Amino acid sequence: MKIIHAKDYADMSRKAANIISAQVILKPDCILGLATGSTPIGAYQQLIKWYEKGDVDFAQVSTYNLDEYRGLSHDDPQSYHFFMRDNFFNHINIDLSRTHVPDGSNTDAAAACAEYDRMVAAAGYPDLQLLGIGNNGHIGFNEPDDHFSAGTHCVDLTESTIEANSRLFDNIDDVPRQAYTMGVQTIMYARMIVIAASGEKKAQAVRDMCFGPVTPSCPASILQLHTNCVVVADEAALSLCPEA
Ligand code: PGA
Repeated sequence: MKIIHAKDYADMSRKAANIISAQVILKPDCILGLATGSTPIGAYQQLIKWYEKGDVDFAQVSTYNLDEYRGLSHDDPQSYHFFMRDNFFNHINIDLSRTHVPDGSNTDAAAACAEYDRMVAAAGYPDLQLLGIGNNGHIGFNEPDDHFSAGTHCVDLTESTIEANSRLFDNIDDVPRQAYTMGVQTIMYARMIVIAASGEKKAQAVRDMCFGPVTPSCPASILQLHTNCVVVADEAALSLCPEA
């Protein structure tokens, strides 16, 4: 793992966006694996600015998102379909037909997950996968467990994830209890992984990811075994790391 030190959220966002934009410049028809949550918003905003300046062109890019809540329609403002359009896709020249998010509106979990796996595999897996990390070390919605997951599957969200995500809902009871997520194995198929982290709430998870044992009790720890994984984290998120 390569750890890139950023000063704060803005610096982390710029550095992550720089890596993503380099990928798009080097391979205009690349496949990006994308993430939702608070962490990548700043990077998306930076990429939008560079797009507006004419520095980066998304016309040929395809995207595959990590996850989606089960049972939400694509137009539900809490869905990750909506999030991606609102925070990124609607502001760049990407062809929406090349953007993919697991189909949370299909409540047949087995069918929805199998279809997503088929699409990601047919595309050849992401050239670059952007990730955030949960306070509990999750990636996508792969929660701490006794094994690493393989393909896209339906998960019961942990109480800590429901609580963390409740800030985005009116009421904690509105947070969906289940989600479809790419599996850890699929994430590991990406040719490059960029995992971004900001803030002291992430410090323990970042330490466990980078310096702890490789264990499904911290799903992000498996990224130690990836041959091209870059951690972009700010001072607060790195504050518990030995070398930080
Ligand atoms: P956050 O979530 O970016 O909203 O902190 C990250 C994650 O849960 O993967």
